[in-house]
Amino acid sequence: MACNAARIKGFADMFPPDSDAFTRMETLARRIFGQCGFVELRTPVLEYTDLFRRSIGEETDVVQKEMFTFPDRKGRMMTMRPEATAGVMRAYIESSLHAGESVSRLFTTGPMFRYERPQKGRMRQFHQINCECLGSDSPYADADLILMLMRYIDALGLRDVSLKLNSLGCPRCRPAFKEALVAYLRDRRDGLCEDCARRLETNPLRVLDCKVPGCKELTEGAPRLLDYNCPDCKAHFDVVLDLLRDGNAPFELDNRLVRGLDYYCRTTFEVVSGNIGAQSAVAGGGRYDGLVKSLGGPDVPGVGFAMGMERVALLLPELEAPRKDFFLVALPGEDCESRRRQGFALTQRLRAAGLRGEMCLSEAGFKSQMRQAGKCNARYCLILGPDEAARQSVQVKDMDSGEQRLALMSELPALLEEKR
Ligand code: HAM
Repeated sequence: MACNAARIKGFADMFPPDSDAFTRMETLARRIFGQCGFVELRTPVLEYTDLFRRSIGEETDVVQKEMFTFPDRKGRMMTMRPEATAGVMRAYIESSLHAGESVSRLFTTGPMFRYERPQKGRMRQFHQINCECLGSDSPYADADLILMLMRYIDALGLRDVSLKLNSLGCPRCRPAFKEALVAYLRDRRDGLCEDCARRLETNPLRVLDCKVPGCKELTEGAPRLLDYNCPDCKAHFDVVLDLLRDGNAPFELDNRLVRGLDYYCRTTFEVVSGNIGAQSAVAGGGRYDGLVKSLGGPDVPGVGFAMGMERVALLLPELEAPRKDFFLVALPGEDCESRRRQGFALTQRLRAAGLRGEMCLSEAGFKSQMRQAGKCNARYCLILGPDEAARQSVQVKDMDSGEQRLALMSELPALLEEKR
């Protein structure tokens, strides 16, 4: 059978500048999240399917139709993680982190997998930067996390994004809301799309964020979550909003913001952009106080978010790749091998001194090597001929002005550094 060497649909190879943008996002995340007390946790991409069913929720789109699930060789059901939170909770419980620090701040980054219809900003393998703060039910934890996210987004240089917030209430007050919503929707059932008619029975809150125009219109007058929040949930949310105002983070309340995963309670939020098409959510998250307990751990509250790296990459201002400092050419001819050795050693020394550059690997003629020097866009070409080699020196050619001068190899790091 012929080998199928094609890339899988919805899975991407990533070259610069996209791979550079990812490195930038990760480096800045480590710096800013590290400042706020987050430590990095790396969890496996494969987990038992049951973990996701129990945490994300049986009736969610993710569990119902988007997971990459298969049996292993012993018939146990495995799933490629569709998000990071569930695995982080499992790791938190298994390593008894709660027994140490009262608050754990865990940051994770890596690929996630969802079998969705690929489009701009929506992949089957995508990447998240994910933060979880476990061990506090204080509204200060919610606000601290959201302000950190907004500072990070600002530091990345993203403009024209907005922060949306809602409160889903708690297991005490949400049932009354659900009842009122279902009653409202049942009376209008005929106007719902096929998916929402099903959701009405299984997961009615999701009807509120259906994108089908008919459903949107129909839910315009639906009951609002905030009107059903109990006094405790309301007080909690009010403090979150106050702290965000004090922190100069503008936000909008959005009564349709219900999120696609079942573990949330109280504060939920999304950062959206109008500049990346239909898949406008750049980051999303919220509080999930019962989740750790429902997975067999202690009763530890938590709040977190994940940011979609592919979507952020669409919005990042492009940075110019840093220019190489040098490209070294050893002239062909008699004793060429000894010059190449000398050039090779010089290249290593210059790099050890912090300069960026490379030696021409081909043993082609002078003209061809100089063409390669031009293509690689280095600031200087270092030319090593027999005379130069004998005098422990090189010709330093400025690739912008064309000027050329002789310099001792020992002077080079300082000379190139000075002209940077
Ligand atoms: P989520 O809203 O499902 O939340 O995903 C977070 C972000 O991941 C989205 O806002 C989006 O930017 C990105 N994303 C999701 N699906 C795709 C896709 N198919 N292609 C490209 N990007 C995508 C969560 O995953 C929660 N675990 C967040 C969380 C952490 N809540 C609490 N802690």
